[in-house]
Amino acid sequence: MNSDCERILLDEKTIQARVKEVAAQLDKLYEGRKPVVVCILKGSVVFFVDLIRNMKTPCELDFMAVSSYGAGTASTGELKVKKDLAADITGRDVLIVEDIIDSGNTLYHLKKMLNARAPASVNIVTLLDKPSRRQAPMEPEYTCFEIEDEFVIGYGLDYTEDYRNLPYVGILKRSVYEK
Ligand code: PRP
Repeated sequence: MNSDCERILLDEKTIQARVKEVAAQLDKLYEGRKPVVVCILKGSVVFFVDLIRNMKTPCELDFMAVSSYGAGTASTGELKVKKDLAADITGRDVLIVEDIIDSGNTLYHLKKMLNARAPASVNIVTLLDKPSRRQAPMEPEYTCFEIEDEFVIGYGLDYTEDYRNLPYVGILKRSVYEK
């Protein structure tokens, strides 16, 4: 375990088993269709790659980078699009792949923005959800794990850009971010 971790919250085996299960649910949902699967950079990249490799549904891949406006670590307000989709999603089924939903502000605004482009459907799959932190009315269609309000890192999630490549989700030691 990385020495900056307090403990492992979700180990590699647990994550991989759950990702397989959710991929099978998505295969059922999209049977006979070809969704545009959207990776929200950067945090969701690891989950995205594992998820699509477990899905049998033919799909198109696309990438977006967004951030909520607002000071400090809390995200509020409108969405800033740093990188938009390459695909025209008019009439398409869109699956947004996220690593974590916290306040819900990012996905609330993102879903609204993508819905304005007249897709056939927009669904959200998230690796982690912290429902206790919610500010915006945002419920993902698929959640791998609901978690408590802990500072999590690894499997795509960072603290100041570190720890994204850990194969598990860990809880960061307070001493790391309070120093
Ligand atoms: C994280 C996460 C979501 C957002 C969730 O991204 O990937 O996009 O925050 O927070 P919210 O529900 O409070 O809006 P972050 O801005 O940390 O960027 P990153 O994925 O590049 O690390």
